[in-house]
Amino acid sequence: MLPLPAARTVADLRRTVAGWRREGLTVGFVPTMGALHEGHISLVRLALARADRVVASIFINPTQFGPNEDLAAYPRDEAGDAARLADAGCHLLFAPSVAEMYPPGVATVVTVSGVSEPLDGQARPGHFAGVATIVAKLLNQARPDVAVFGEKDYQQLQVIRRMAADLDLGVEILGAPTARAQDGLALSSRNAYLTDDERRRAPELAAALTEAVSNLRAGAEVAGVEARAVGRLRAAGFGPVDYVEVRDAADLSRLGPGRLLPGRSARILAAAWLGRARLIDNMAA
Ligand code: PAF
Repeated sequence: MLPLPAARTVADLRRTVAGWRREGLTVGFVPTMGALHEGHISLVRLALARADRVVASIFINPTQFGPNEDLAAYPRDEAGDAARLADAGCHLLFAPSVAEMYPPGVATVVTVSGVSEPLDGQARPGHFAGVATIVAKLLNQARPDVAVFGEKDYQQLQVIRRMAADLDLGVEILGAPTARAQDGLALSSRNAYLTDDERRRAPELAAALTEAVSNLRAGAEVAGVEARAVGRLRAAGFGPVDYVEVRDAADLSRLGPGRLLPGRSARILAAAWLGRARLIDNMAA
């Protein structure tokens, strides 16, 4: 297997993409923060199915981490990630430095109101402004035809869809289904923080959401379903539980407390701590 070509600067990235464009090729883009797992590789596969050439970026974006979050501890393995991307058929790695992405004097922040405000917007102040700003920059730098994001970060996906539409970025935003371990746990780079005992308990998050979805579909009231899922997580040793909430699938406005109307497009989203890992998950309700 040939090593994956890497661009470290925006100029290098643009030069490669411009070459592909001259050949009439379409371009897909998969933004990541590295520590790649099968979930990321499924995003690359989806991009490859939709575009002739695929760029994956690895950039641990400091502006989306709060002051007490895990920026310093975030897992890093660029060589391993590059090998995995090459193996998946990715054509270019874009791995810029922090100085390349945020040169001195940078003063623009992209904020998306509405959809970015509840849930993780409350639990992680400033997080989605950091995400929207870096994704707007990456998409503007690569100018892809399609960009792929995981549904595991469902609120992030909806924030990016809103931002790309509002800023006329001219890129199709694709959501890819959450990749899961055999026991149901959503794959995440942060699962690496779980101890063996916590890893055994972690699938309870997906199990609680699965049960919640089946109760909602059977006509149970939203408020009771949410409360039962929170109780189940606490009983399994999760804590704190930041939220378990049923929301509109597109704009994430609050639904309930009563039953969901038939045909209502809803999503149940959860975030809860297990030891030092903050796990998130969501499902169509
Ligand atoms: O989902 C992620 O890994 C990050 O939030 C993203 C989209 C790469 C932006 O830094």
